[in-house]
Amino acid sequence: MKIAILPGDGIGPEVTAEALRVLDALSLPGLVLFEGDVGGIAYKRHGHPLPAETLEMARGADAVLFGAVGDPECDDLPREHRPEQAILGLRSELGLFANLRPAAGYPGLEDMSSLRPEVARGIDLLVVRELNGDVYFGDKGERSSDGGREGWDAMSYNEAEVRRIAHTGFRAAQKRRGRLTSVDKANVLETSRIWRETVIEVAAEYPDVELEHMYVDNAAMQMVRSPGQFDVILTGNLFGDILSDQASACVGSIGLLASASLGERQTEFGTFGLYEPIHGSAPDIAGQGKANPIAAILSLAMLLRHSLGRETEAGRIERAVAKVVASDVRGADLGGSATTSEIGDAVLRALSALS
Ligand code: NAD
Ligand code: IPM
Ligand code: MN
Repeated sequence: MKIAILPGDGIGPEVTAEALRVLDALSLPGLVLFEGDVGGIAYKRHGHPLPAETLEMARGADAVLFGAVGDPECDDLPREHRPEQAILGLRSELGLFANLRPAAGYPGLEDMSSLRPEVARGIDLLVVRELNGDVYFGDKGERSSDGGREGWDAMSYNEAEVRRIAHTGFRAAQKRRGRLTSVDKANVLETSRIWRETVIEVAAEYPDVELEHMYVDNAAMQMVRSPGQFDVILTGNLFGDILSDQASACVGSIGLLASASLGERQTEFGTFGLYEPIHGSAPDIAGQGKANPIAAILSLAMLLRHSLGRETEAGRIERAVAKVVASDVRGADLGGSATTSEIGDAVLRALSALS
């Protein structure tokens, strides 16, 4: 079982280190780890945010554990050299079109939600975000206009792209509470009109799933009004990016939410995938031991489940995390003073108490 470890920038290496301590504690036989440079650090060392050797290492693995990329020192580089291009490149080069971002509340954590505790209590949703298309990957550029320099980005989705992510969404809903909310802006965007019509077509194959459509502006409002109404949210790349950060504040902190990015490639043990926290490199707290490593640790759990067929170990990590989150070991993001490694220590203790 080969895992490529790509810690990246800022708090990426700090939170990934804690996930690796958890992996180590599981003592899985036959595990081989490779580590590669990605993001700003890769640009500084190799002149490119996604060096060819890093991409090849990822391709050759059964799964990728990713930290975060982003470096203020690189903010003025031309787009192709920006750290963020590394994660976009990995997602598209590896065909990882389905991004799963679960957001569920923890008993005992409702007080840290940005919502009232009784509203926060019901949250248990999964954002299924399309990851290879949308305005992220359309043509873009700069041109001159009467109003001076003009930036432009083309937004598009074709039926095939919508169909494959819709299947992911419906299958996920079947395994959960059987409800799927497709989020779009079909009252304005042609992209969304094709999106909605295609989702309706695919829905015919899933009569057991209840489908509703919601405009993204309403969805943003509904999520803070009553997040408990959502089961699976199926949406495009840009709306999914925004709504998942919002969901994290409903749970309590962006430092808690993990993600899996999956494609079609199967490995000997499961589905090839890349696993990362939904948060970024958090330059404002990098190097201070303030980052919450839970999102990275839960990303490891998703990796074990989806790519390595290790459901038992994934479940154990999730149970250990739930214990820690409900305890008084909390980082600054959750109103406490525990450091990154102290939170890691607590997860390791909870894990060994389970076995
Ligand atoms: P961010 O997610 O890095 O940080 C947003 C806020 O949340 C900050 O105040 C940060 O301190 C806090 N935060 C984030 N993760 C945390 C954690 N684990 N524990 C405690 N607090 C945490 O988003 P941003 O500030 O908008 O972006 C910073 C950089 O990260 C940018 O370069 C951006 O492009 C990049 N980014 C990368 C990814 C990725 O690698 N997938 C995701 C998002 C942003
Ligand atoms: C995320 C990030 C990325 C995205 C950026 C860094 C390209 O915000 O993983 O959520 O927009 O997808
Ligand atoms: Mn994001």
